[in-house]
Amino acid sequence: MPPAQKKLFIKTFGCQMNVYDSNRMADALAPHGYEQTQDMVEADLVLLNTCHIREKASEKVFSELGRMKKLQDLRKSEGKSTMIGVAGCVAQAEGDEIIARAPVVDLVFGPQSYHRLPQLVAKAGNERVIDTEFPEEDKFDHLPAADKKIIAARGLSAFLTVQEGCDKFCAFCVVPYTRGSEVSRSVAQILSEANDLAAAGVREITLLGQNVNAYHGQNSSGNEVGLGALLFEMAKIDGLDRLRYTTSHPNDMSEELLIAHRDLPQLMPYLHLPVQSGSDRILAAMNRKHTAKSYLQIIEKIRQNRPDIAISGDFIVGFPGESDEDFNDTLALVKEVGYASAYSFKYSPRPGTPGASLKDQIAPDVANERLQTLQALIKHHQNEFNQSCKGKTLSVLLEKPGRQPGQVAGRSPYLQAVHVDAPASMIGSIIEIEVKSVGPNSLYGQLITN
Ligand code: SAH
Ligand code: SF4
Ligand code: F3S
Repeated sequence: MPPAQKKLFIKTFGCQMNVYDSNRMADALAPHGYEQTQDMVEADLVLLNTCHIREKASEKVFSELGRMKKLQDLRKSEGKSTMIGVAGCVAQAEGDEIIARAPVVDLVFGPQSYHRLPQLVAKAGNERVIDTEFPEEDKFDHLPAADKKIIAARGLSAFLTVQEGCDKFCAFCVVPYTRGSEVSRSVAQILSEANDLAAAGVREITLLGQNVNAYHGQNSSGNEVGLGALLFEMAKIDGLDRLRYTTSHPNDMSEELLIAHRDLPQLMPYLHLPVQSGSDRILAAMNRKHTAKSYLQIIEKIRQNRPDIAISGDFIVGFPGESDEDFNDTLALVKEVGYASAYSFKYSPRPGTPGASLKDQIAPDVANERLQTLQALIKHHQNEFNQSCKGKTLSVLLEKPGRQPGQVAGRSPYLQAVHVDAPASMIGSIIEIEVKSVGPNSLYGQLITN
């Protein structure tokens, strides 16, 4: 007899890896009778998949738990019970605190315990449970594959984690503590998952890792291979037309990866390569182990291999000790690279990281002003890049109905959102369009008819 149907609601915060993990958690619970819902009120089990990267992200968990209490009370008044679980990086970093501060929470578990979720949920029916160990076994060996129909319902573009954790220990960053040290999945395991995705109709896969280009998984001969070799294998999969990967560290852009950018038409010409600062003094204080110049040299090499590549990045302003001069170096680097897009953040001191105990923390108003200046410059470059696409022919993976009736929305190779006049029946195809106009956040294009 199939198990009784129960409803599962997952709210995801943070990075793409959390999006991927949330799907895997749903896949782990599906054989135990849990069906995912988008409506929190009907959920028997609510999971918050959390992010610890900045203070604001972390705080969201506790405000969300306040709302959960109300939800639980409302359902209780209707005679229904609601189990609440906290997963992800806040669970890993502050598990004990969550249990102590939030009586509403039944279950706390870290990113390396997701394969144990069915057992943890069963146990949490009787007592409050916390599981934030880094287990011996590899969770990916135990997580069940998703059902074909469920994969198809998730869309044409999918994430696939190939590497997790980080050994770099940038002075500002919690990831090495919340996700643990670097672990790469085997090539066979990744290809098997990618084949399942492609067989269910997925046309684009983004390989994920906190430090994805440090990937060093075993191939079938027992040899370690890098991300470049993995991409060459992925490119052989039928039906997979587009490949991407994120997030990379500048020091791990290997020759083979550059060759993949040169030789694989499936590998999209878009690279997210965070640099964080343009000042060598600050880069050293951040323990980034690269300089502004070495970063620019890497960008130049990538462009030699793939001249049309769009570069994206991450920046932190207001790291301890950052002077006006240091900040100006960041602005100069942004101008030199000419980013197609970039994300910038105000430094947030995180407990347990070396940056938090540094002297010369920057006053919030100074950091705010720098952030505004940097964001204006980034926006200018983003706009310039988008404008440069006007009149060009781009291929677009049509993914969903567009904003206007008669329109379909998709993504360009450069990850820009594109709206196209086309019938909904074309969703799922990759088509050539001519870019007719450019808005602040998206392009508008028309089908090329010969
Ligand atoms: N693994 C990736 C990104 C990790 S987190 C990498 O190595 O680049 C994503 C981004 O958040 C980082 O690139 C950084 O710009 C930002 N970030 C990380 N810790 C932060 C902190 N303490 N304060 C502000 N921004 C931070
Ligand atoms: Fe964090 Fe990325 Fe640095 Fe690793 S490389 S410590 S994930 S910013
Ligand atoms: Fe956040 Fe953890 Fe991702 S801290 S950015 S959810 S790895």
